[in-house]
Amino acid sequence: MTRIAVLPDALARKIAAGEVIERPVSVVKELVENALDAGASAVAVDLAAGGKSLLRVRDDGCGMSREDAALALVRHATSKISKEDDLFAIATLGFRGEALASIAAVSRLTLRTSEGGDEPGTLVESEPGGAFQVRDSAFPRGTEVEVRDLFANLPARKKFLRSDSSELGLIVKMLTNIALARPGLRLIVRHGARTVLDCPPAAGLRERLFQLFGKDALDKMMEADLADGPVRVSGYVSRPPYGRPNRGRQAFFVNRRPVRDKILSAALQQAFSGLLEKGLFPEAFLFVDVPPGEVDVNVHPAKTEVRFRDAQLFFPLLRRVVERARTRVLGVRDLSEILADGAGVPPGGRPAPAGTENGEGAGPEREEPECSGVGEGGRTYIRGTDFADFPAAGVLPRAAESPQVLGQLGSAYILAEEAGDLLIIDQHNAHERVIYDRYVEIDRERKWPVKMSLLPLVFELSPVQEIGLEEAGPMLRSSGFRVEPMGGRSYALREYPDVFRPEEALSVVLAAADESKKGAPAPAKDRLLAAMACKSAVKAGEYLPREKMEFLVRELFRSANPGVCPHGRPIVVRIPRSQIERGLRRPVSDPAS
Ligand SMILES: Nc1ncnc2c1ncn2[C@@H]1O[C@H](COP(=O)(O)OP(=O)(O)OP(=O)(O)O)[C@@H](O)[C@H]1O
Ligand SMILES: [Mg+2]
Repeated sequence: MTRIAVLPDALARKIAAGEVIERPVSVVKELVENALDAGASAVAVDLAAGGKSLLRVRDDGCGMSREDAALALVRHATSKISKEDDLFAIATLGFRGEALASIAAVSRLTLRTSEGGDEPGTLVESEPGGAFQVRDSAFPRGTEVEVRDLFANLPARKKFLRSDSSELGLIVKMLTNIALARPGLRLIVRHGARTVLDCPPAAGLRERLFQLFGKDALDKMMEADLADGPVRVSGYVSRPPYGRPNRGRQAFFVNRRPVRDKILSAALQQAFSGLLEKGLFPEAFLFVDVPPGEVDVNVHPAKTEVRFRDAQLFFPLLRRVVERARTRVLGVRDLSEILADGAGVPPGGRPAPAGTENGEGAGPEREEPECSGVGEGGRTYIRGTDFADFPAAGVLPRAAESPQVLGQLGSAYILAEEAGDLLIIDQHNAHERVIYDRYVEIDRERKWPVKMSLLPLVFELSPVQEIGLEEAGPMLRSSGFRVEPMGGRSYALREYPDVFRPEEALSVVLAAADESKKGAPAPAKDRLLAAMACKSAVKAGEYLPREKMEFLVRELFRSANPGVCPHGRPIVVRIPRSQIERGLRRPVSDPAS
């Protein structure tokens, strides 16, 4: 009896399509890349419901003849390569001849196209089953592809799509990268009646960055450019000490193709080691140009990954790129000289040893810290509200006595004793836990004491952050933040909870706006409260007088959860007395006595 059977054609097509098209952003990426390959100078993207119900991409590129239009939806039909050797010299973004076929397999697709001139345009309409019709249709030079009801015939995939604004956020982020890779392109993106991205042609990358992120962001970056033999790296990176709390603003392009590359990202992190405060990540928009034969782009169906012949070369290369960029902005001095006299050392910290990520375990896989708990240089304030004036409500003291404070270690840890054991308490994490518990309580009762900004704090958001802010809006409002649009991409923070300094309140708002970029299902309230607690908690590097330490330890051990901070990191290390005694070769005492 045979157990193996060839799958029905329709099912095989869906399986293959699933590899290329994961979600609406994959469709937009493929369609816009086709437009760029067709030499378009302007691309318009229209979306509805985060691209789930409608997605339309129109370009002014070369268009297609009737015969080509009829072939374009056929799997493995392409005009971009024709023989095996071509695979090693790919100059276009597409080459697999399967994007349109894959999209058509999981949606209702309509394509209109014309090469201009006297020939009539062509309309191709396809049904998810694979059949399509070809007709005349008046159309100017260029192509428009409309995709409706994505995954209607693939309910399992449809179920995993996120909210409209989350999907939209992913699309805008991807298109932001395309806009950076092609500064000369006119790109407009609408979601329903709203324009979410409008980029007129820019003269170069600098102008494009200005369009997308504003002057402030550009002022915190430096230009990078270095050629080494046939390899060239150029673009913009953070200007230390500026950095960002996550890797959300790192984009790499290989031969103008936006890629995700762990090696480039690790090499960048290493190149910045010692230059940024712990917990900060460099911002980077870096373009790597290599001869096509040095890089394999046919690694993954979505074409977002590449493989280099010699990837290791990027570690020394990116270090030199960053050093050179710094030398340029700092003047002519050699970087080693600058490091030696401390000017390149982040405030309050020493340069981390090379080869580590800000002094911690390196590696692209490592979870990005939500917060570092490290203070800005020289900041030693502790506000009254942090400690005594804001007593925790509804938290019952535990029966046991709280540990006894012995002192502070390295301005970062509190040493305490409990039943003869030594406790080492991370002061930032501990304070974060105490404040977080209070904030949860206040938030439950909606009793945020609100402060009005005397001078409104004005800030600019990137298009992706704007979507994130919209998503987080109701949650922020319910916690006492009031943000108002000021026109363009400017916003003003008018009100915020009266537990923050203005710049701390602003960083909470920005953190909430950044959430959607990570594609989180919804910006959760507990993460907002954790971010708020992190901002107002005492930092490592701050001196704490004894009474503050005692207060903090007492409050911590009243918490229902004194062991872990709201971000999930441990707060206390316990060294049992027996271990101390063993270390000192003393007779181990009986813990019961
Ligand atoms: N916007 C467009 N303008 C002109 N021609 C297009 C356009 N979109 C698609 N085509 C033509 O249709 C062909 C098939 O497109 P499709 O995206 O399926 O494959 P591809 O771009 O060749 O490869 P890949 O699957 O890697 O994207 C292309 O090779 C191109 O000739
Ligand atoms: Mg393509």
